[in-house]
Amino acid sequence: MDGRPIGMFDSGFGGLTVARAVIDLLPAEHLVYVGDTGRYPYGSKPQHDVAAYARQIAHHLIDTHDVKVIVVACNTAASAVDLAAELPIPVLGVIEPGARALVQATRSGQVGVIGTVGTIGSGSYQRAVADEVERVAGDRATGGGSADPDIDLVCAACPGFVEFVERGVVTGDEITVLAERLLAPVREAKVDTLLLGCTHYPYLARVIGDVMGSDVVLVSSADETAFALRSLLTDAGIARDPADGTGTHTFCSSGDVDWFRALGRRLLGPELVEARPVTFEGP
Ligand code: DGL
Repeated sequence: MDGRPIGMFDSGFGGLTVARAVIDLLPAEHLVYVGDTGRYPYGSKPQHDVAAYARQIAHHLIDTHDVKVIVVACNTAASAVDLAAELPIPVLGVIEPGARALVQATRSGQVGVIGTVGTIGSGSYQRAVADEVERVAGDRATGGGSADPDIDLVCAACPGFVEFVERGVVTGDEITVLAERLLAPVREAKVDTLLLGCTHYPYLARVIGDVMGSDVVLVSSADETAFALRSLLTDAGIARDPADGTGTHTFCSSGDVDWFRALGRRLLGPELVEARPVTFEGP
């Protein structure tokens, strides 16, 4: 058993979709969340800048909050750097859990992933889905799997979506017009399942769902990541003892903390009572 907190970060509000799933699934765990709203968006920035931000936040979580594990609740950051290879504690990203959920959910095998320019350009989902297909095919060969491993993947970047969410705009004509344009490639590909490969996008699920049509299943990586985190904590023997009561939830923002508290509470729920300021050196 390990009573230290889970550390989690994103460029801003998007990772709160993952935080929500983790709070619901693992109520006994303490959580420290950093939203780097002072430097968002990550999706349009060079990979090496995003990698530097991710390293800085991860070290802050370890040095200041003594976290036992880090959840990179940002596809763009997870695509830019493999923190698991660099840090002395376990690290979990959202890409592999998302790819797993996508491959499990499809019936036709025609699937799509949408994400930031950084995520889609990095090829991380193309690789993760191919790895997952290989894993499922391996399971099948040994009689274990049931999913159809014959997958045709179409990816589309959706620049602009994140900015709407950060401004608290999640419905309306402006975003619908943008969504119609950006989602055209995945609509034309007739996908039956679409993975929201940016943790901000579940907040736009209503608009995305309307544009894609009710036949298309939208998949988010949040729940699958929470399940993966539970397995990681259990397997490593570092879960917090539920007998010690409900965990605490700490939220930090590198931008406007009043805005983070107001919008964050609307998006996440009542656990977000206050947002603490955090400062990072550099651009
Ligand atoms: N939530 C981040 C992700 O999953 C958004 C990145 C951004 O700030 O552009 O990729």
